[in-house]
Amino acid sequence: MNFQESKTKENLARSFAAECQEGARYQFLAKMAQQEGYQYMSMLIRTLAHNEMSHAQQFFNKIVELGGNQTQNIDISAGYPFKSGELCDILLQEAENEHGSAESIYPQFAEIARDEGFKDVAELFEMVASVERTHERTLRKLHENLKCDCLYKCESGKHSFKCDECGTIILDKCAPKTCPLCKMGQGYYRIDFSIN
Ligand SMILES: [Fe+2]
Ligand SMILES: [Fe+2]
Repeated sequence: MNFQESKTKENLARSFAAECQEGARYQFLAKMAQQEGYQYMSMLIRTLAHNEMSHAQQFFNKIVELGGNQTQNIDISAGYPFKSGELCDILLQEAENEHGSAESIYPQFAEIARDEGFKDVAELFEMVASVERTHERTLRKLHENLKCDCLYKCESGKHSFKCDECGTIILDKCAPKTCPLCKMGQGYYRIDFSIN
């Protein structure tokens, strides 16, 4: 099928727009986490933002590659979230967004691309979907642990908590409120997803 007439062209443009907006929202969220003292969480969210911009670039490159100079502008209509809330609520909203992308939107776009004869694009959607699945897991875990105030606790015994600022390792049931070496706050301690 001709790319210009395909549904895949529109789906690539929608995906590009969605990834850019997700990247922006994650930067806002990272700033929020930082302002609340969760430096390590902020760094994890910044990594997600970076990943989304990389996905956006792949979609952009595909449009340019397949559309050549015939693609000047693509009109798209789509819904994008503008929800607000506390840090903990936003983590859950974003986990749910990621779930939608990973399990429904991108798999559908991949199927359409395959039907239209764009095998590379189908594979791209599938690869991005598998990353979004890992994003969902990260965000859900952050949400769950923040909600029960156990980001820095290990109920099942002593755990080694590491300060991301100075490298101090503390073997205890919870990370110290202030790092004994560098005096930075608890938010600098690494969040280990195997905790709880
Ligand atoms: Fe993404
Ligand atoms: Fe993502």
